[in-house]
Amino acid sequence: MAYPVIAIDGPSASGKGTIAAKVAETLQWAYLDSGALYRLTALYAKEQGVDLQDENAVAELALHLPVMFHCGEILLNGSNVSADIRTEEISLLASQIAALPKVRQALLQRQRDFSRASAVVADGRDMATVVFPEAVLKVFLTATAQIRAERRAKQLGIALNTAQFQQILSDIEKRDEKDKTRPVAPLKQAADAHLVDSSDLTIDETVAKVLDLYRQVKK
Ligand code: C5P
Repeated sequence: MAYPVIAIDGPSASGKGTIAAKVAETLQWAYLDSGALYRLTALYAKEQGVDLQDENAVAELALHLPVMFHCGEILLNGSNVSADIRTEEISLLASQIAALPKVRQALLQRQRDFSRASAVVADGRDMATVVFPEAVLKVFLTATAQIRAERRAKQLGIALNTAQFQQILSDIEKRDEKDKTRPVAPLKQAADAHLVDSSDLTIDETVAKVLDLYRQVKK
């Protein structure tokens, strides 16, 4: 591995993306949002009318994703799809295609290439266990499903005593279950990862905690 990597894994809506991006910004390292690659693959397959059960066809698309990460925007075939890949529909489809071994294999090198260009903070499900096993720091970031659902609802402006909130909570639980129980690269804490539970922490406190862990391992 040419450059150092900080790997941050955790369940959906645990805030990994926000934390990883802020840690990267502070250290002036690159940021790899690996989930975006799975989301992009799902969106592209849907747009191209490819059957999501067809593992070979989806893997082929993943291998040749015409994606560009540019100034915080994600371009697929030249169109800005930054918002399109974040819908609940694409979240569930991404989780579905992420269970296909050939799709994961197709995206593996693409993810590793990020660390050949510069130091990187990578977030996902298997950054520490599969993609960057030699990461200098491994963090498993979590929070209770209830707290994660509340954070998501707040972002979307949804009240907590509504059916919509219950739907968000149940989608999060469904995705957790899928990510944890799939046979290939299931979501699990690496043996050498530091567990950070952000249930009672603010974003800034969580970022500070990760930076603190990094300072300790760098010594
Ligand atoms: O992290 P995010 O919610 O954007 O990821 C979308 C989906 O992609 C997840 O539900 C998960 O199934 C999958 N994923 C994965 N491995 C990663 C990152 C994401 O399987 N490293």
